Amino acid sequence: MTANLRVMIATDQIAARVQQLAQQIDAHYAPRQTASETATNDAHCETNTTAEKLVVVGLLRGSVMFLADLCRAMHHPHEIDFMTVSSYGNQTISSGEVKVVKDLDSSIAGKHVLIVEDIIDTGHTLNNVLQLLHTREPLSISLCCLINKPSRRQVQVNVQFKGFDIADRFIVGYGLDYAEQYRHLPYIAELQLD
Ligand code: IMP
Ligand code: MG
Repeated sequence: MTANLRVMIATDQIAARVQQLAQQIDAHYAPRQTASETATNDAHCETNTTAEKLVVVGLLRGSVMFLADLCRAMHHPHEIDFMTVSSYGNQTISSGEVKVVKDLDSSIAGKHVLIVEDIIDTGHTLNNVLQLLHTREPLSISLCCLINKPSRRQVQVNVQFKGFDIADRFIVGYGLDYAEQYRHLPYIAELQLD
């Protein structure tokens, strides 16, 4: 069996999109002032210091490259935590079953949560993670994924921040793997096995 790689999203395209996503995320979480706070701040030239906490949750292992670049491009203060849920294993098709292998280290109660994922395919992974995290009383949960395969969706998932829509192709690189290989590639490539 031979593996062919065809570059689909180049390194500089990824970097540019990550910057844009970070700006959108910063804008989304920028402290919103009430009318009375705005009036007070106008009078005293102060900014609101009561910002709510944000925790960025990376789904291991595919999101690590993306999360590392995204967090460094963000200005909004945040914690970082990680979770491992089961995914495809060494297959290129989804099982539709997801279980928590490694849970978060910290509580998300009373915090805003931004889940960062490498790719959304059938939607089962994020749907399950969302359902679980909603039970822990966060202030809000938003989703950010680098790659979206809309034609493969089996469950509806609302993704607020999306990097790239792609067709139904199996891709590797920039964190994404096939049988734990290719995660280190600095670009995203389509993998074809002959
Ligand atoms: P979903 O549960 O079907 O949405 O699958 C999400 C997970 O499947 C991702 O976190 C990846 O681990 C894996 N996955 C889906 N498509 C690909 C791909 O094209 N390349 C590598 N991994 C993929
Ligand atoms: Mg994954």
